[in-house]
Amino acid sequence: MDLGIRGRKALLVGASRGLGKACALALAHEGVDVTIVARKRDTLERTAAEIAGAAGVKVTPVVGDITSKAGRAAAIEACPAPDILLNNADGPAPGDFRNWSRDDWIAALDMMMLSHIEMMRLTVDGMMARGFGRILNIVSRSVKIPQAELGLSNGARSGLVGFAGGLARQTVAHNVTINNLLPGIFDSDAQREHIRGMLTEGGKTFDEVWRARAQGNPARRYGEPAELGAYCAFLCSVHAGFITGQNLLIDGGSYPGTF
Ligand SMILES: NC(=O)c1ccc[n+]([C@@H]2O[C@H](COP(=O)([O-])OP(=O)(O)OC[C@H]3O[C@@H](n4cnc5c(N)ncnc54)[C@H](OP(=O)(O)O)[C@@H]3O)[C@@H](O)[C@H]2O)c1
Repeated sequence: MDLGIRGRKALLVGASRGLGKACALALAHEGVDVTIVARKRDTLERTAAEIAGAAGVKVTPVVGDITSKAGRAAAIEACPAPDILLNNADGPAPGDFRNWSRDDWIAALDMMMLSHIEMMRLTVDGMMARGFGRILNIVSRSVKIPQAELGLSNGARSGLVGFAGGLARQTVAHNVTINNLLPGIFDSDAQREHIRGMLTEGGKTFDEVWRARAQGNPARRYGEPAELGAYCAFLCSVHAGFITGQNLLIDGGSYPGTF
């Protein structure tokens, strides 16, 4: 299928590793020029070279922290009129809400909700004026299956999807769609970090928990980032203009409900 987005420009936040990188690669393979943002220069520049070598498109790396005003300004300066915006950043550390301060909550909101909303604010009007836009937020299944140890994610990400759902209905008539991708377990750095945070003294080893989580999924495995990248590319295509305001699970069937 020709996705019809060759020559478009995408701004992808959190795209030096894992799911964001997979989205950048998938879009680049469709002929989209990509601007990728992350905090650590080395990995980011390696990824930029890898994508450019693999897909032959223009790849612009931007070093920046998207939770900061300077980071967002650098991203927009490098890609002032994106056709596609991917919002993505770190998830939270697991923990007990009794130990979280107001500062912890504000940091979580900045990372998983407010920076994404600000990036939408900075780009959505231009997309509407130009008559094409695709905005995707990488969120988490935790907005549909609250995870006991991930209260910061359950809370902050629910705020994001609530907001995005309202905005999506105001932009779609201008061919600007806004959707949320809700990953289940994927083989990535964030997944490993999450498991390390769950280990307790004298409890199961990392490998035991890693395997148990795969076995607990109906697919008996972790998702591959490339699978999410391909989903992202389709949702950014010309064919996906009637899909908006959706919370789209990609989780091997781990969400147990019919609806
Ligand atoms: N993998 C899973 O199984 C899974 C499941 C559910 C939800 N999620 C969520 O999906 C998101 C992506 O997960 P992942 O597995 O792809 O994570 P990952 O492999 O750790 O990659 C995260 C990417 O985002 C960048 N990043 C993080 N914070 C940033 C910031 N403040 N500003 C700019 N760039 C930033 C990282 O680069 P730098 O560190 O260099 O900035 C990296 O490129 C996370 O929010 C995660 O919680 C993941």
